[in-house]
Amino acid sequence: MTRTSVASPANIALIKYWGAVDLERALPLNPSISMTLRECVTVCTAAILPGGGEDLIQIAGADGILADAPGRFARAVAAHLDRLRARAGRDVPIRVATRNTFPTAVGLASSAAGFSALAVAVTRLLGLRLGADELAELARASGSGSAARSVVGGFVEWGMAGSGDSAAIRVLADASHWDLRDVIAIVDETPKDVSSREGHRRAPGSPHYAARSAELPRRLEVVRAAIAARDLAAMGDVIEEEAIELHLIAMSSRPPIFYWGPGTLRVLERVRRLRADGVPAYATMDAGANVHVLCEPAWEADVQAALVELPDVVRVIRDGVGEGPADAPPLF
Ligand code: DP6
Repeated sequence: MTRTSVASPANIALIKYWGAVDLERALPLNPSISMTLRECVTVCTAAILPGGGEDLIQIAGADGILADAPGRFARAVAAHLDRLRARAGRDVPIRVATRNTFPTAVGLASSAAGFSALAVAVTRLLGLRLGADELAELARASGSGSAARSVVGGFVEWGMAGSGDSAAIRVLADASHWDLRDVIAIVDETPKDVSSREGHRRAPGSPHYAARSAELPRRLEVVRAAIAARDLAAMGDVIEEEAIELHLIAMSSRPPIFYWGPGTLRVLERVRRLRADGVPAYATMDAGANVHVLCEPAWEADVQAALVELPDVVRVIRDGVGEGPADAPPLF
């Protein structure tokens, strides 16, 4: 195969990965559960370059035109390519190009989408046929732990304690099991100034870290059961607690990290009012200011209408549960 092209999704964590046993290998301190998205994807096209030479790493601009990727991103991709080549035992130069359908580095898991897309596209290109756990491990080796959860669709748990392998992933339910919607309120499109990696490093220093850890076994159980029963209300409080405590821990880390902004609080307030008015919608955030509002399909239009009215909301992305990486039209 000389060229592959894959679209791989972002995911939104219901139970957050926050804190690592080993940051380099992205081994989590706690299990996490996410929902794989379907609209927020990274398209990654990869080809073996004929005639040897250097890798060519490109990124599509807003106009779709490919240009050389900027330094830091290109270095992270090059390091990932080296790991994938080593795994395949093939030392060939590769051209890769990526394009995101959503804003990058604003807490919407663009690195999860990007590194899972690279892992899937390049391993296929190099002739490897890998199972989900192996792909997850390769995606995670990029340092973006949450990328492990993006190599499969549906509702995914990663880092199960007691499973014998703290890095394994497990599909709790396929995408077809539950048509849950995610209305994403974008309140800030500027890239965050402190990486998630730095957030993981500082997290255990927060005085709130241990208290949240003590809650986790119960929360994991609640979310697993709610997914099985397709009962959003049953996990609504827990997913909001998880999001708020992720930010509480970040804000009380030393030095503190502020991922959320005034718009975040206004969206959270609006979601509480929606619930008071009888709309079952629940909010969660990853390490960024933007807010994911989960609801059943019947409420999606109401949720969107309420969010677009807020002056802080720049735009809204309507997303839902996705099936994981899939073939995509090539970028070159
Ligand atoms: C808050 O280390 O996977 O999103 O490399 O930026 O994707 P990126 O982050 P990663 O940490 C993710 C942290 C989180 C929670 C989660 O996705 O579980």
